[in-house]
Amino acid sequence: MAGNSNSVSADETRALAWLLRWYAEMGVDLAVDAEPHDRFAEKDLEKPRRTAASPESATRRPQPLPALSADATTQSARDAAAAARTLDELRAELLAFEGCALKATATQLVFADGNPEAKIMIVGEAPGADEDRLGRPFVGRAGQLLDKMLAAIGLDRRHVYIANVVPWRPPGNRTPTPIETSACLPFMRRQIELVHPKILVCLGAAATQTLLGTREGIMRIRGRWHEYDMAGTKIPAIAMLHPAYLLRQPSHKKFAWQDLRELAKMIKKVGN
Ligand code: URA
Repeated sequence: MAGNSNSVSADETRALAWLLRWYAEMGVDLAVDAEPHDRFAEKDLEKPRRTAASPESATRRPQPLPALSADATTQSARDAAAAARTLDELRAELLAFEGCALKATATQLVFADGNPEAKIMIVGEAPGADEDRLGRPFVGRAGQLLDKMLAAIGLDRRHVYIANVVPWRPPGNRTPTPIETSACLPFMRRQIELVHPKILVCLGAAATQTLLGTREGIMRIRGRWHEYDMAGTKIPAIAMLHPAYLLRQPSHKKFAWQDLRELAKMIKKVGN
């Protein structure tokens, strides 16, 4: 900066304002720290590694630990998820899990809401800003619309269990990457097993493609029944339009209404 180190020129102010706007448009909506950090190198400093060939090397200059491969991350997620015998244990395993980078930028884990005994489980994409702040899924505007959708067929949060395929908020509400989603998938599968619902509802493309293993677009796949394999037990699963999408495309609420009627029919069919 020019001149006195405390003064900022009008040009610099304009440039900084432009930069902040650009960050916001790119989805950067929180500052984690004032300085960039190499977290992998920091981890290495905490746990210096010695090798047989050069036992002193770690004390001289810390070498960054190789990041776990995607396969190793998935395996560690599978092991952690399989170890959980209850939803509380699963929550604890997720709190201890370091295989998803979103954990570093999210405020907290957003595990679930609703009734763990419910026969309907609803799975969304990932927490947004309100969910990240409050620690509960679907509490923002999309959540309020979801509540209205459920009420339209006589349901509320006592009748459903709600979670997200990714339990940490992606910065700027971007879609979780395939790496983030697959790191969290074993936990979501285990969560479904532990809740043991009779019906699974996937909200939006991300949850649908992840849980139903399809690349089909949400407009084509929504409203039709599929089978979800819950550790060997097949349960009916339906894809619906995400309430956040319906807030942007209110004219598509008619499709959501058709899908809700399908859901109501299936609830009658599976009974209690
Ligand atoms: N959108 C989601 O997919 N999940 C939430 O919890 C909130 C908004």
